[in-house]
Amino acid sequence: MSDNYSRAPSGWDPVADWYDGWVGHDGSHHHQKLAIPAVLQLLNPQPDEHILDVGCGQGVLAPHLADRGVSYTGIDISRKMISTARKRHRGCGRFLRGDARYLNRVSAVRAGSFDAAVFMLSIEDMNPLEEVIQSTVWALRRTGRIVLLLRHPCFRVPRQSGWGHDPDRKLRYRRVDSYLTPQSVPMKAYEKSDSGVTISFHRPLHHYINTLAGHGFMVNYLDELVTFKQTRDRAERRANEEFPLFMALRAQGIGAAG
Ligand SMILES: C[S@@+](CC[C@H](N)C(=O)[O-])C[C@H]1O[C@@H](n2cnc3c(N)ncnc32)[C@H](O)[C@@H]1O
Repeated sequence: MSDNYSRAPSGWDPVADWYDGWVGHDGSHHHQKLAIPAVLQLLNPQPDEHILDVGCGQGVLAPHLADRGVSYTGIDISRKMISTARKRHRGCGRFLRGDARYLNRVSAVRAGSFDAAVFMLSIEDMNPLEEVIQSTVWALRRTGRIVLLLRHPCFRVPRQSGWGHDPDRKLRYRRVDSYLTPQSVPMKAYEKSDSGVTISFHRPLHHYINTLAGHGFMVNYLDELVTFKQTRDRAERRANEEFPLFMALRAQGIGAAG
């Protein structure tokens, strides 16, 4: 860990302005071309459903659900993110400050009151997974659904994966140096080196599937998403088409455990 990381304040409050600048009102290119379409496809939101957006950030998903007649609730632990969301997406639903691990402490959230919960690019920022899923399941009806959109845990391990070039075979390959060991990784400080640092939690794929299943939520759809970026380089294009850098999954409650 570098000195910058240990000096910088952790959590999303210190980087909320930077993040809001990157995402804006309509979402970053990543949101527009990849994350939001994938989430909407798996979530398949229906009018009048109650949907919880966990780790909603500055609320970029809210208008997409409000447009479909959903009753939207966004929850985030960062005071600044919630205050930005309320300004940016007024009228799209309600934005509440709360910790995903303790949704039962958010007075406006009731047990079993949501049809679905979505984590768009947020589950990797939360730990422990077990507490987050248990708390989310508490807020959902027993046959509700959970949608996760995250960096692909098999191919994108923070600081343990990247691209390599094999000149003999003229190909670009994906290198993964470690995978099974869970890790908490301070992410780079944003803009100014001491402006803040966030922690990303890497877990192998089976942790997600088995934790959901342990709470009676079975995965019934998995999507592996490649980058939307175009390139003329043949080796790069092949690699881009071959390695999914994001993953989206949907789990449905079977009404058993709880
Ligand atoms: C990368 S941002 C994603 C925000 C938004 N979903 C988006 O796609 O723009 C991750 C968010 O998770 C939130 N977060 C991290 N830990 C949390 C927790 N325990 N409870 C609620 N929100 C949390 C952060 O404050 C941050 O806003």
